Amino acid sequence: MNQTALLFCLLSGLYLALPLLAGLDTMKDANNLSAAVSLPAHAVEDPHSYANPGDVRVRHLDLECEVLFDQKTLKGTAVLSIERVSQDKHAPLILDTRNLNIATVETSPDGARYTAATFTVGSVDKFLGAPLTIPLPETVTRVRIKYSTNPTASGVQWLEPSQTAGKKDPFVFTQSQAIHARSWIPLQDTPQVRVTYTARVHTPRHLLAVMSAENDPRTPRDGDYRFRMQQPIPSYLIALAVGDLSFRPLGRRTGVYAEPSVADFFLNETATTEKMVRATEKLYGPYRWGRYDLLVLPPSFPFGGMENPRLTFATPTVLAGDKSLVALVAHELAHSWSGNLVTNATWSDFWLNEGFTVYLERRILETVYGREREEMEAVLGLRALDEDLATLDDPDEILHVDLKGRDPDAGFTQVPYEKGALFLRHLEETFGRTRFDRFLRSYFDHFAFQSITTADFVDYLKKNLLDRDSKLAARVPVDEWINKPGIPSNAPKPTSPAFSRVEGEAQRWLRNEIPASKISAAKWTTHEWLHFLNSLPKDLDRKKMEELDQAFHLTGSGNSEIAFQWLLMSIRNRYEPAYPRLEEFLTSIGRRKFIKPLYEELAKTPEGKERALAIYRRARPTYHPIAVTSIDEVLKWNNP
Ligand code: BES
Ligand code: ZN
Repeated sequence: MNQTALLFCLLSGLYLALPLLAGLDTMKDANNLSAAVSLPAHAVEDPHSYANPGDVRVRHLDLECEVLFDQKTLKGTAVLSIERVSQDKHAPLILDTRNLNIATVETSPDGARYTAATFTVGSVDKFLGAPLTIPLPETVTRVRIKYSTNPTASGVQWLEPSQTAGKKDPFVFTQSQAIHARSWIPLQDTPQVRVTYTARVHTPRHLLAVMSAENDPRTPRDGDYRFRMQQPIPSYLIALAVGDLSFRPLGRRTGVYAEPSVADFFLNETATTEKMVRATEKLYGPYRWGRYDLLVLPPSFPFGGMENPRLTFATPTVLAGDKSLVALVAHELAHSWSGNLVTNATWSDFWLNEGFTVYLERRILETVYGREREEMEAVLGLRALDEDLATLDDPDEILHVDLKGRDPDAGFTQVPYEKGALFLRHLEETFGRTRFDRFLRSYFDHFAFQSITTADFVDYLKKNLLDRDSKLAARVPVDEWINKPGIPSNAPKPTSPAFSRVEGEAQRWLRNEIPASKISAAKWTTHEWLHFLNSLPKDLDRKKMEELDQAFHLTGSGNSEIAFQWLLMSIRNRYEPAYPRLEEFLTSIGRRKFIKPLYEELAKTPEGKERALAIYRRARPTYHPIAVTSIDEVLKWNNP
């Protein structure tokens, strides 16, 4: 180790020890939301960022931004407070950008006097965007950048009034994960860098802006909104939405933002949110972010949910009306510990976010809805994993996946989610709940507000669980779980008695022992329905499809998960009566998890591909840029 590195290590050690030295007061402060500590860490190589956080680190962002709907543009001023962390006094500041128009860059030693700075924007990489390099005189502590976004910014979706529930006002929202923050703010867009932030957002007077920050539910609508995020967060969690939004409280610190005409529909579906927060706190320690609100977006939102701190963004397609989809809320809430508090340092460590979160999600569901429910989720999850494993190449079956030279969105498979969760379940079953729960809780406390690598986790796991009981540890092949494809042979095998009964019914019907109308499905939940559809052979003849549809009206199902499965089967089996519904589904919902497999299935036959292209031509302008990128690839779309 050279001297510089040694000095850095010593300094980091001191920083790490500070909260411990300060003792309880600091802990209390962190829970009270005042001045959270931001810990310097070693820079790790991130193939998805140009930034140089090993030399210069952004610690805080002050953002001012005008939302210009008519130009589909965010016009912004970003003031970055920086800290030199290496001895290299001449290192420039290198930021990530994508498709941004940089107007001016200024630097300041104190945030009061600014002088114009030279800057260069490097060449554009298809996945990464372009580096913005700013030479930094030694005394500079702040950098001010005036810029504007492009209407095609990959992390911003501008919606026409027709794409909203109210049909009167436009809507805009951002989606920064994985590397789209750089398309609307110039910053060090790597999850190992954490910043606190403030923002001031100017909008049309009658619309409301919300962010992943302190949102006062009672704030008056006046087109001028201020936000503050006092805990250091990675850039992928910075988020903004503006529209005709209203707020409905759920509990003391929870509530729902949605368009006024649909807000009430979500109250029943999300009623257990407060209970879930309490259940998670009991398991894994205090909720450290103040409020937990949900924002229900218009249906073009490309994901199910996004764990923006203090304000989960959610698809309206969770509205099944039977509380069967609360798993999504449990999932995004769980990220308040796994992901937002302890964060993956690079996108190769994504499983630390998602695998842990799926594991936590199931523990929350078990606490609130019972073990049977948890087991159903686990079986469906394993099934989805098995399906992915059947098609993925070996390198993509590895938890600590190599994504160099690729779009990190490519890591979005069931592997980080379900294989990650299964690994944790294996540890839980081996060491027992008491020990494993204690371990996880201390893990969240130990790494709170830090971004860590897979190696950091393994190191902590060894010291705090495995090495304390080598006999039990021998039963969990940690290296195989993390670095090898497939699933270890002694992995846990979730089973669900309720699902066995469903399989029995499916078999009786398939063997023509009973007609569809006699399948005892009256009390089935969404999960049982999904398992039933999963249990059917891929090929079903026309008569069978018709019989099911007549008995259960699956084509008309308003439950998006069930409708999706049924439509997939309908494409496979050329069940034409469902085609109009398929078209309606694909032109009204933009959730990538649903639309991508449907287009993929369509693209398997020449007629299907033609239909897919016809639908896509109409739907494409309504999809989010992230979904468009995926579907363009599926359909080899290159029309302008
Ligand atoms: N953080 C993810 C969404 C995400 C991942 C966005 C990677 C961009 C890149 C979120 O927590 C998530 O996993 N959402 C799931 C829902 C869930 C219940 C598994 C989704 O959107 O399907
Ligand atoms: Zn997640």
